Amino acid sequence: NKVVLAYSGGVDTSVCIPYLREEWGVNEVITLAADLGQGDELGPIQEKAVKCGAAESLVADAKETFIKDYAFPAIQANALYENRYPLSTALARPLIAKLLVEAAEKYGADAVAHGCTGKGNDQVRFDVSIMALNPKLKVLAPAREWGMSREETIAYGERFGIQFPVKKSSPYSIDRNLLGRSIEAGPLEDPMTEPPEEIYAMTKAIADTPNEPEYLEIGFEKGIPISLNGKPLDPVSLISQLNEIAGNHGVGRIDMLENRVVGIKSREIYEVPALLVLIDAHRDLESLTLTGDVTQYKRTIEETYSHLIYKGLWYSPLKEALDAFIQKTQERVSGMVRVKFFKGNATIVGRRSENSLYATDLATYGEDDGFDHKAAEGFIYIWGLPTKVWSEKMRS
Ligand code: ARG
Ligand code: SIN
Repeated sequence: NKVVLAYSGGVDTSVCIPYLREEWGVNEVITLAADLGQGDELGPIQEKAVKCGAAESLVADAKETFIKDYAFPAIQANALYENRYPLSTALARPLIAKLLVEAAEKYGADAVAHGCTGKGNDQVRFDVSIMALNPKLKVLAPAREWGMSREETIAYGERFGIQFPVKKSSPYSIDRNLLGRSIEAGPLEDPMTEPPEEIYAMTKAIADTPNEPEYLEIGFEKGIPISLNGKPLDPVSLISQLNEIAGNHGVGRIDMLENRVVGIKSREIYEVPALLVLIDAHRDLESLTLTGDVTQYKRTIEETYSHLIYKGLWYSPLKEALDAFIQKTQERVSGMVRVKFFKGNATIVGRRSENSLYATDLATYGEDDGFDHKAAEGFIYIWGLPTKVWSEKMRS
């Protein structure tokens, strides 16, 4: 029997390799490391997997797919879990699950495995995504069952000759990819503790940001960001460059308590510079190009959509149906949004579109006013009629 294991090179996923072989009798562990722009070198990770006992060690560059097929639809949906978290970690999971399933099918494995614990959201996202993509595959989650502490896990690995660098151990749990960083645990577990500056890597402290504002024009086509300052960019470059610009001005930090799928409240710090700016800019362009009723109805869809992503239902019939709605709304969301970066703020200061529904002659208070003021009277009479009838009844 053969298992494909999602591999990051960290303690837990490394120990999963001997654990699967020794405790669960797996003959062949194939590891799969996905490059989603987390900044780790994949060569050493590949070597490490083999040293830990992997029969084969695969790497997949999935950065482009990650942005195009996972991040961009989430931007079109203005997806923010609990109104704040742009789902930077959550969006990576269904993609990794897909890569695992594809590898399992290619190599004839009967199961896939991951190193998630039993307290988190990530296990839910992996398990449910894998179920959806190939219901026949078994999912193994050793770290959910082994009940070892950090120290015990390291000791277990050492029994099989796995060395963990004794770099000064960070108290934080950090997940990183092109879209951002999620930081939790350690001193952050006290909701009153202000996040220490040292945890941030993508965003500057306000005290260190430029003293001059910077303007940036973000171009969108059908709800998808395509250019910065008029220069067309591929998805990965656009996100990387925008992360740099926004992070340099201290934009993109979130400190929140969130409700996990498993019922726990957890305190999480996020650094998501590009993603936050893009959602804000995209929403603004929608305000110019969509009618009011579509915008308002879409808000309810967006809320549901964000929950589906957070809760592991990326590959689900409801998600597919909502995608169809969202794609329809995006057909005319093309144009440009002008953003001003300054001291931790990304303020939208202008927007333009060929599909603009903004009519100056209707909106103006000046002499070119084309709006028929007298038409308002009859409208208001009928609009207010039920309330008037109600009021008269209440008073009689
Ligand atoms: N709470 C975030 C989510 O569920 C991030 C999870 C991973 N975070 C971490 N620090 N390991 O999407
Ligand atoms: C984990 O336990 O795997 C990390 C945290 C989370 O998934 O929410």
